[in-house]
Amino acid sequence: MLKTYQALRRNGVIGINERNITYVNALNPRKLLVRVDNKLLTKQLAQAADIPTPELYGVIANARDMKHLPEMINHPDGFVVKPAHGSQGKGIIVVDGPLKGGWRLSSGRRIKLEDMKFQINNMISGMYSLGGQTDMAMIEYRVKFDDVFGKVSFKGVPDMRVIVLKGVPVFAMLRLPTAESDGKANLHKGGVGAGIDLATGLTMRAMQHDQLIDVHPDTAHPLENIQAPYWDDILLMAARSYDVTGLGYIGVDIVLDREKGPLLLELNARPGISIQIANRRGLRFVLEKAGALASDKLTAEERVAFAKTLSEKAADAGEPVIAPV
Ligand SMILES: Nc1ncnc2c1ncn2[C@@H]1O[C@H](COP(=O)(O)OP(=O)(O)O)[C@@H](O)[C@H]1O
Ligand SMILES: [Mg+2]
Repeated sequence: MLKTYQALRRNGVIGINERNITYVNALNPRKLLVRVDNKLLTKQLAQAADIPTPELYGVIANARDMKHLPEMINHPDGFVVKPAHGSQGKGIIVVDGPLKGGWRLSSGRRIKLEDMKFQINNMISGMYSLGGQTDMAMIEYRVKFDDVFGKVSFKGVPDMRVIVLKGVPVFAMLRLPTAESDGKANLHKGGVGAGIDLATGLTMRAMQHDQLIDVHPDTAHPLENIQAPYWDDILLMAARSYDVTGLGYIGVDIVLDREKGPLLLELNARPGISIQIANRRGLRFVLEKAGALASDKLTAEERVAFAKTLSEKAADAGEPVIAPV
């Protein structure tokens, strides 16, 4: 993989060192990282700025809060419990609804109140937080995933990732779960990434394990020309995530709810660089163009309008495209 990236550098592909030095370290002040590392804070900041997120049902930080658990989870359509400082899906409990004195997990298994309390105690003791610091368990609305991406997902949760430089969306992709990724949309777990054209919200081309592919590996459905609904809203939510965090280089993760439309799931201050393979295009050109803009003087709407000019279809004809690998 290292070799692939070296070969791609001349096509404007940035590597992990360049990402870290020029973007992450330079544009994401350490003291602000708590805004994305603590999911409760992210949610509160987003709510204050009218960026929709899954509704918060409650927070459990100690034994006293635990007494209120039964009221917090009294939702016939299920709920999700997650560690506020968690990452990579660790510790997350997705409950579909009640089942015979307990609850049915998304995996189909049953969980009883005592077992749920046990897992929540593990969460708040810091089992899933970086450095093992004490944590909080957040209880929130369970997203009812829209089936627009049903034909290109395998048993899991698709999401959209938008890379945002100083408030300007520069790259986007649709991440799709596969049998291999076990319902997770993470690319390193074997999920599929499909580049999304910024101007139209249409998927362009896709990859799995850093290799280009045309159809979903499990459903065999073509991955090109799928329309991401609410595309303008998604771009606007991504652009506004900069205003509420002050972080100059972020990955914005958005899911699509059947009734509520796009919801912000989380923000990432160290977004991965494989998105370049999914777009078959390096990030450098768009990062430099967006970076040269005095974006702090523009409204989120103006930044979205600019983002659309970064679309490959609108881009300079001279820009190199990565050859199929
Ligand atoms: N509210 C929710 N409703 C349904 N599924 C969720 C919800 N929150 C998280 N998930 C599932 O858990 C995964 C990880 O959640 P996320 O908030 O991104 O935390 P992490 O930092 O662990 O990646 C999501 O990709 C999704 O599959
Ligand atoms: Mg995530």
